[in-house]
Amino acid sequence: MKKKFGADSKSVLQAKFDAQKIAFGPVMFQAAKALRDLGILELLRKKGNDGIGIGIEAIAKELNLSVYGVKVLLEAGISLEVVILKDKKFILTKTGYFIISDELTRVNMDFVNDVNYQGMFHLQDAIKTGKPRGLQVFGEWETIYEALANAELPEKVLESWFRFDHFYSDIAFPQVLPLIFKNGSDRILDIGGNTGKFAIKCAEFSKKVKVTILDLPGNLKVAKKNAEEKGFADRISGIPCNLLDPSVAFPKNYKIIWMSQFLDCFSQQEISHLLKRAYNAMNTDSELYILEPYWNNQRFEASTYSLHATSLYFTCMANGHSQMYHTDDMKKLLEKTKLYVDQEYTDIGVGHTLYRCKKQSERKASKALAAHKN
Ligand SMILES: C[S@@+](CC[C@H](N)C(=O)[O-])C[C@H]1O[C@@H](n2cnc3c(N)ncnc32)[C@H](O)[C@@H]1O
Repeated sequence: MKKKFGADSKSVLQAKFDAQKIAFGPVMFQAAKALRDLGILELLRKKGNDGIGIGIEAIAKELNLSVYGVKVLLEAGISLEVVILKDKKFILTKTGYFIISDELTRVNMDFVNDVNYQGMFHLQDAIKTGKPRGLQVFGEWETIYEALANAELPEKVLESWFRFDHFYSDIAFPQVLPLIFKNGSDRILDIGGNTGKFAIKCAEFSKKVKVTILDLPGNLKVAKKNAEEKGFADRISGIPCNLLDPSVAFPKNYKIIWMSQFLDCFSQQEISHLLKRAYNAMNTDSELYILEPYWNNQRFEASTYSLHATSLYFTCMANGHSQMYHTDDMKKLLEKTKLYVDQEYTDIGVGHTLYRCKKQSERKASKALAAHKN
């Protein structure tokens, strides 16, 4: 009897082809990026969109590149499925179109190239040590957050990091504002509020709302400046702090505590501590909102794929021990902190889930009250 290998049902030929895609992945990534950045794909979109396409010489002449250079890139492009070759002319495919025109793809590609690409060489070391060893390509810091908050990373790295971070949260914010403010609360504590983007959205959403941001000092300086420029200096304030310092208590008396794309920056143990401190700051009627993209809660395979890859950014570049979590991970940590998910909203933004969490003791109290009334 033939021995079966591999747990999946993929054909052997396909499996071997897929293994080569992995083997040559970084080379082909750079080829796609060169086709994008040198303007070759854009030229095909503008001038080769007639079903006939453009030949190598014409492309080389138009873009002032060598025939050899255009040839090797476009031939790689055939295998990348960003172009097809028909009668010696090249035509853009749908994937090629996404590479140049889709904002999500551009943001992800730039994040991979500018923030991760060089550092990923150190991934195995990061796994073995639990430290973000890839960060050494830019300098010496414990975590990327210190470098980001003080704008110490190269300009292009900063730009691509912020565009990646803001792209996902910016799409989600307009959807969540009516949900979190629907009970008329007007004071919100934004934990890990970064440069104040969400705080400004809150202030624009309602004239009554006042926001307090907790974040590292460097980010808060930028947040303060941004809030002032928008005329919200009286409604957006901040407390600079290192949230990993257990002696820093969260301020009390906020009806809403907000954590967006924040807990994924920490290990499970750190999340437990952060949740515990949020719990201690919560009143009986406080609501803790957690907005996260969970890898198992995605409608599209492309999103799950991107989130699995993003986890490795946390491993190698960010801090060495956090990740994009599974909903089970987060629910277990909430349970441990005596919090529970009272309301869950899925399909927010690109693939976020919003949890509204409350104290377990409140659920017990309201159940007991209901039982008493009956
Ligand atoms: C991924 S960003 C999320 C920003 C924003 N909430 C959003 O949804 O776009 C994580 C934020 O957590 C902050 N952060 C990470 N570690 C921190 C620490 N130890 N103390 C304070 N803030 C920290 C970072 O500075 C950053 O602003």
